[in-house]
Amino acid sequence: MTDAMWLHRHTARSLERLLPRLEARFAAQADPADWAAFRSRLERHFPRLFRLLLHLYGSHYDFFYHLEEILASAARAWLERPARLKALDVQREADPDWFQSQRMLGGVCYVDLFAGNLEGIRAKIPYFQELGLAYLHLMPLFACPEGDNDGGYAVSSYREVNPKLGTMAQLAALAEDLRAAGISLVLDFVFNHTSDEHEWAQRALAGDPEYQEYYYMFPDRTMPDAYEKTLREIFPDVRPGSFTYRPEINRWVWTTFYSFQWDLNYSNPVVFRRMAEEMLFLANQGVEVLRLDAVAFIWKQLGTSCENLPEAHMIIQAFNALARIAAPALLFKSEAIVHPDEVARYISPEECQLSYNPLLMALLWETLATREVKLLHASMRDRFRISPGCAWVNYVRCHDDIGWTFDDGDAARVGINGFHHRQFLNAFYTGRFPGSFARGLPFQENPKTGDARISGTCASLAGLEKGLREQNPLETDHAVRRILLIHSVILSMGGIPLIYLGDEVATLNDYSYANDPAKAADSRWVHRPYADWQRYQRRHDPTTVEGRVYQGLKRLIALRQENPAFAGHDTAVIETGNPHVFGYVRQHGGQRVLALASFSEHPQTLAASLVRIHGLGYIFQDLVTGRTLTLDGGLQLEPYQFLWLVAVG
Ligand code: GLC
Ligand code: GLC
Repeated sequence: MTDAMWLHRHTARSLERLLPRLEARFAAQADPADWAAFRSRLERHFPRLFRLLLHLYGSHYDFFYHLEEILASAARAWLERPARLKALDVQREADPDWFQSQRMLGGVCYVDLFAGNLEGIRAKIPYFQELGLAYLHLMPLFACPEGDNDGGYAVSSYREVNPKLGTMAQLAALAEDLRAAGISLVLDFVFNHTSDEHEWAQRALAGDPEYQEYYYMFPDRTMPDAYEKTLREIFPDVRPGSFTYRPEINRWVWTTFYSFQWDLNYSNPVVFRRMAEEMLFLANQGVEVLRLDAVAFIWKQLGTSCENLPEAHMIIQAFNALARIAAPALLFKSEAIVHPDEVARYISPEECQLSYNPLLMALLWETLATREVKLLHASMRDRFRISPGCAWVNYVRCHDDIGWTFDDGDAARVGINGFHHRQFLNAFYTGRFPGSFARGLPFQENPKTGDARISGTCASLAGLEKGLREQNPLETDHAVRRILLIHSVILSMGGIPLIYLGDEVATLNDYSYANDPAKAADSRWVHRPYADWQRYQRRHDPTTVEGRVYQGLKRLIALRQENPAFAGHDTAVIETGNPHVFGYVRQHGGQRVLALASFSEHPQTLAASLVRIHGLGYIFQDLVTGRTLTLDGGLQLEPYQFLWLVAVG
C-alpha cells in the first residue's frame, strides 16, 4: 500500500469513527438543517485538516483524543454562530472573489487614538463612508496590561474588549453597523503570543505545569543559549535575545518581541485547540478578516532561525480548514514582514487569502529616495503575481516601522549592493543623508549587524515636515505630490489598497511620545498620534496641504471605484525606457489602463511609441486629469506626475 492510499484509508476511517461521536455530543441540540450544513462542510474539509493535524500532532499517543476535541470545538462554535453570519457564510461561499472588487479599500487605525472608544468609532462611520472604505482594521482592542502593552499587541484575553474602549457586545454591534454600511471589520489575531497577564500565563506563573506547557519555558540557559545561536533579534533595543527570566518560577520564557509577550507553544495540541476556539469566537462576533499577527514566528525548531518553518504554514492551514468548516466567511490576512520569497509562501486560498505587501511598500520609499525605478521594476515584474483567489493588501505606511525587505539578488541584478543600499536608505529616511527630504527616526538600530528600520508618518517621510518647517513652498509642493504618487500606485496596482488613517490628511510626526515612559523607548509611536480633528476639518479646503492630499486621494479613490480595470490583480509591469518612470498595465472587465508614475522632481519624457504599444491605442485619455493626449512629440510628465491612460482612438 502506498503512503497516499494509507492516508486516504486512514482519513476515511477516522471520519467514520468521529462523526457518530460528534453527533452524539451535539446533534441533539442542533437544528437538523444546521447540523447537516456543518456535517457537509466537515466532510469536505476533513481530509485536509486531518493530514495537517496528523503531521503536526500525530506522534502524540492521544492524537485521536485531541482530534476529536478540536472538531468538538468547531461544532460548538458553529452552533453558537449567529444566523446572520451563517447567511453571510453562504453568500461568501457563492462569491469567493468578493474582495477582488475595485470597490475594496481598507483603512486601519487604533480605536483610542482615532476616536476614543468603540462608540467613537461607530460615530465615525459616516466619515469612513465619505472616504470610501469597504474594510476597516481596528488594531488590538482587547484587554491588555496597563502601561506598555506594545500598542495592544500583548493580549490578556481574546474574549474581552479593553474596558477603556468598550465591551464585546459593543464590538459585535459595531461589526453589524459597519457591515450595514458596506464595511467589513478586520481585527488582529495576535496568535504568536499572549501577554504575561493572560489567564494561561498567570496559571503558568503560579506554577501549574499544565499551563507552563502552553509556553516555552526552560529551567536554565542551556536551551535558550542553544536556540539563540540561530535566532534573529527582533527588538534588540529593548531587550537583547529572545528569552526572559521570571524569578517567580525560576524559568526562562520565550519572548520573541517584548518581555511581557510570551510565545505560545504550538507543539502542544491543546494550545492549537484553545487558540482555534479564540479564533472562532472572534469570527462569531462578526469579524470578517483576521490579520494573523507575526505569522513567521509561530513554530520553533532548534538549529533554525525559528522563522517561516514548514509547520508554521501547517498551523495556519489547519486554522484555515477549521474556518472553512465553522465560519466560512472568515478570511485571513498574513502579516509576514520577512524576505519576499517567504512572504509569498503564506499566500494561498488554503492558507492566507490576503497578505500585506511589505516589498511594494518598502520599494515605493526606496524609489522616492533614489528617483530610480529599477529595483521596484525588477522586483514587481517577478514577484507581484500571486495565486488567483488571493489578493495583496498594498499600503504605504502602517503602525509599524519600515524594514528594507527586498531581495539582495534582485538588487545585485540591477547593480545595487543590498547591504550598502540599506545603510543609504536608513541615512536617507532619518534625514542624515545630505539633501534628504525625509524626517524619520531609526527603529531598533542593531550595532552588531548594522541593521535598522525606520519610523515616521507618510507625510513626514515624504518631505512635508521639512517643507513646512522651512516654509519652502517648492519642497511642500513636492511632498504633496510624493504622497499622492505613492498612493496612486497602491490604489491602482492590483489588490486591496490600505490607508493608514491620518495619512489621508497628511498627518506629521508627533514627537511627544518621548515624554511618555511607556512609549519613549519605541520610536514607532512617532507615527501613532491622536487623530487631530482640526486637521481633518481642513480636508475640505483645497488651499491647505490637508485639502490637497485628501481631495487628491478622494479623486483617485472615485476613479478606482468607477473603472473595472482596477479590480483583481492582472498586472503587467512594463519597461518604460525612462529610469525614473514606473509603468504597468491593468486589465479587467474589458478595460485596459496603462499606469505611469514618475518618481523624479524633474520633468520627464516617454516615447509616444511606448505608450501606444502598451496602451493599445493612438490617442489616450488620462483618467487622473481628464485630459486627452495625442502624444505628438512624446509624453511629457511633470515632476512626480502619474497618469492612468485609456485608449480613446
Ligand atoms: C506585529 C505588530 C507589531 C507588534 C508585533 C508583536 O508585527 O504589527 O506592532 O509589535 O507584531 O505583536
Ligand atoms: C519584525 C517582525 C514583524 C513586526 C515587526 C515589528 O519585523 O517580522 O512581524 O511587524 O518586527 O516592528
